[in-house]
Amino acid sequence: MKNIDTIKEKLKNVYYPGFSKSIVDFDFVKNIQLADGTATISLVITSSAVEVEASLREDIAKELASMGLKANVIIDKPQAPKQSSNSQSGKNIAPTVKNFVMISSGKGGVGKSTTSVNLAVAMAMQGKKVGLLDADIYGPNIPRMMGLDHKEPQIQGQKIVPYEAYGVKVMSMGSLMEPGQALIWRGAMVMKAIEQLLRDIIWGDLDVLVIDMPPGTGDAQLTLAQSVPVSVGVNVTTPQHVALDDSRRSLEMFKKLHIPIAGIVENMSGFICPSCQTESDIFGKGTCEELAKEFDTQVLGDIPIEPSIRVSGDTGKPIVFIQPEVETSKRFMIAASKLWQTIENSQADNSSIQPTIGGASACSTAGAKPASEKPAHDGCGCEH
Ligand SMILES: Nc1ncnc2c1ncn2[C@@H]1O[C@H](COP(=O)(O)OP(=O)(O)OP(=O)(O)O)[C@@H](O)[C@H]1O
Ligand SMILES: [Mg+2]
Repeated sequence: MKNIDTIKEKLKNVYYPGFSKSIVDFDFVKNIQLADGTATISLVITSSAVEVEASLREDIAKELASMGLKANVIIDKPQAPKQSSNSQSGKNIAPTVKNFVMISSGKGGVGKSTTSVNLAVAMAMQGKKVGLLDADIYGPNIPRMMGLDHKEPQIQGQKIVPYEAYGVKVMSMGSLMEPGQALIWRGAMVMKAIEQLLRDIIWGDLDVLVIDMPPGTGDAQLTLAQSVPVSVGVNVTTPQHVALDDSRRSLEMFKKLHIPIAGIVENMSGFICPSCQTESDIFGKGTCEELAKEFDTQVLGDIPIEPSIRVSGDTGKPIVFIQPEVETSKRFMIAASKLWQTIENSQADNSSIQPTIGGASACSTAGAKPASEKPAHDGCGCEH
C-alpha cells in the first residue's frame, strides 16, 4: 500500500549521516505528499554540508523506488557558514566561550560526570577560566557532585546566572527542574534544552566549557555539534572489553563529526586499597592504550577505583580540590594538562567538521578489533 503512513515508515530506513537514527526519529521530515506516483518529501535539517544533503537525497530516492515511487525531495537547510567555525552548522550560540570539550561515553555509569567535574576543577586550579555544563538531561548529577543541589538559580533579565563552585561556573538542567520531576524527553525537546543551556546561561568569557553529555550517541551529541564549535572530545570508559566496545561507538561518532579526539580516560582502572595503598586490577587495566592507538589518540589518564572518589562525588567535594595530594588527584591534574595541550593544538575548522558520508554509521562497531586480554586478579590481599 502506498500512502503517507507507509512512506513515513519507509523513511525510517534513512539514517541521518553519521548517526544511527533516522530522519523520521530526528523529526526532520516536516511534510509528505503523494500525487501521481511521486512522493514529495520536505525536510528541515540543521547541517549546511552539501554532502549531507546529497546523501539524504540519494537514500530517500532509493527507499521510495523500492515502493515504486518517484522522489521529489525538498531540503531546507542553513546557509553555509562564512566565518571560520568548527560547529557542524557553522553556528556558535555561545560566542564568549573559547573552547568546548565534549565528554562522552559509550554507556552509562562509567564515571563521565566524575571525570567532567575533576577535569573542570583541575583546569580551574591550573589558572584557566572554566565552565561546566551538565548536558546529561536524563540524569543530571553535576549539581550534587559540585555541592550545588537544592540551590535556586538566579535570573538576570531573561537569562540565567551560572553557579560558581571550586572556581568553576556551573549550570545543569537538574538545577532548572523541580527535584524528582520526571520528564520524558523527546528528540526535539532534548535539542531545545541543550540549545537553551548554551544560549540562555550567562557564561561570560571562558577559556573552556567542559560539557558532561548523556551516555551514548544521540540527539544531545548531534545538537551540541551543530550548535557550537566543539574543540575536542574526551571519551571516558572503564577497562572491561564490553565497555571498550561501547566506547568505540562514541569515538567513531567523534570521527564522523570531525571532532578532534583529545583522548580517553580509563576510569576504574585498578583499585587502590585505602588501607595499604596497593593497586590491584578489578575490571582490568591498561586496555585503553590499544583503543587509543586504534583511534590515533592518547590515554589522558588511568583513574583507579578509590572509595574517596565516590564519597567526594556524593558529598559535592571534588577530590582534586579537597585532596590534591592523593594519587587520583595527581592523575586528574596531569590529565587536565594533557587535555589543555590538545585544546591548544586543536585546529579544527568549519570545513573539516562536516559529517563523513559513506562507510559504517557512527554507531557501527563493525571491524572493531578487541583489545588484548590482560589477566585480572581480585583485591589487593591486604590484611586490613
Ligand atoms: N574511579 C572511581 N572510584 C570510585 N568510584 C567512582 C569512580 N568513578 C566514578 N565513581 C562512582 O561511580 C558512580 C558513577 O560515576 P558517574 O556518575 O561519574 O558516572 P557517569 O558515567 O556520569 O554515569 P551516568 O551515565 O549515570 O551519568 C558515582 O557514584 C561515582 O562517584
Ligand atoms: Mg553522569
